[in-house]
Amino acid sequence: MAKLLIQGGTVVSATGRTVADVLIDGETIAAVLAPGQAETLGLGAGSDVRVVDASGKYVVPGGVDVHTHMQMPFGGTEASDTFETGTTAAAWGGITTIVDFAVQNTGGSVQDALADWHTKADGNCAIDYAFHQIIGGVDEDSLKAMRYLVDNEGVTSFKLFMAYPGVLYSDDGQILRAMQTANEIGAMVMMHAENGIAIDVLVAQAIARGETDPKYHAFTRPADLEGEATHRAIRLARVAGNVPLYIVHMSASEALEEVAAAQHAGQNVFAETCPQYLYLSIEDQLAQPGFEGAKWVCSTPLRSKHEHHSRDLWKGLRMNELAVVSTDHCPFCFKEQKEMGIGNFAKIPNGIGSVEHRMELLYQGVVNGEISLERWVETCSTTPARMFGLSQKGQLAPGFDADVLVWDPNGHTSIGFEKKHHMNMDHSAWEGFEVDGKVDTVISRGTVVVENDAYVGTKGHGRFVKRGLSEYLR
Ligand code: URP
Ligand code: ZN
Ligand code: ZN
Repeated sequence: MAKLLIQGGTVVSATGRTVADVLIDGETIAAVLAPGQAETLGLGAGSDVRVVDASGKYVVPGGVDVHTHMQMPFGGTEASDTFETGTTAAAWGGITTIVDFAVQNTGGSVQDALADWHTKADGNCAIDYAFHQIIGGVDEDSLKAMRYLVDNEGVTSFKLFMAYPGVLYSDDGQILRAMQTANEIGAMVMMHAENGIAIDVLVAQAIARGETDPKYHAFTRPADLEGEATHRAIRLARVAGNVPLYIVHMSASEALEEVAAAQHAGQNVFAETCPQYLYLSIEDQLAQPGFEGAKWVCSTPLRSKHEHHSRDLWKGLRMNELAVVSTDHCPFCFKEQKEMGIGNFAKIPNGIGSVEHRMELLYQGVVNGEISLERWVETCSTTPARMFGLSQKGQLAPGFDADVLVWDPNGHTSIGFEKKHHMNMDHSAWEGFEVDGKVDTVISRGTVVVENDAYVGTKGHGRFVKRGLSEYLR
């Protein structure tokens, strides 16, 4: 495989930035060279090394999105991106690795669920991918399977649900048992922290009152019930021996406070948020007239812009109380999918599609002064890779996979379905968003997959990556 030299850019890592050239040999980073060194070594223009001109651009590790749901069955339908369309859209947006969730439903076998996910993804992905395992039914078999997956399958993190009773929900006893097992094997527990039993009461009461519009989705999932569940998950994790706990898709200040308190007390608790909780709100999106708001029904829900949630989440990102930004990419079309909930918000499939826009939306946080350029790289690439044992990903250093995003800070990106996004959706939750900066070139394991505003990758280039244990706990 050929050599590639990314020349003249500013290489940005989680800890700093420097003008340097990145030399790729085959699938891995061979060297990060000081300016002029490439010429001394006989590389660069005129040699047989292909040169990517990165002058005036940032050169950063490709994005690592550790929370996606491609082809996920949910709410009587299935997430509309296949592994092919979803990973291609991700590549367009500068993402070079996703970690998707294999789903075990109550009564189903974990190994069968994982095999099913391999079948969906194998040979279809544009970029590399790995899996977490959802445990939707904690019993002797699934606890045994957790050990098997860690030892043999490169699946080292398990998502449990305190929400969705009767579907994916686990009670406190089941959660404790899964946490105890995870603690024994060094695995990470990921938690959907919302009190689903209380939420179901509020939902039934709202429907009985005739409150059926999409906005009631948020009113029946109050921040207190996210805070309460987060608190309970943290305490259960402590009882289970301080098992590493990662709270997913955090939207509420109340939940963030619980995580920060646990961290200050020395507990192994981590958390992520998603772009929708940083930028979108009940008032501006979910409460739009008629059924329009269904586009923004997701769980945890969007919060009120008159409260302090998004401001606190940005602060949490700066302070490292929130370690990661993922997308929770779970796309559904408006026609026929979101429309299943006309007349009853509880039947709207939950999810927003964002995998294509994560890097640009978070870069806008840099432009707006919310986070530094280095923190952008850290929360979108380096930490998610280390958090979930992707030891070859998330850094531009010799020996790492050559997953690279060349980012143009002087570019501009117009987001939306109307702007021909690449996700398999008939609308965009981000329609009309105009952001600074632009994806210039994307390289996946040494292969250019996006350049000159064109996708030049191939289906099946993306490989399954077996993960190790979290690097934060070794
Ligand atoms: O609304 C969401 N988040 N849909 C995907 C399923 C989940 O809970 O992550
Ligand atoms: Zn969830
Ligand atoms: Zn999710």
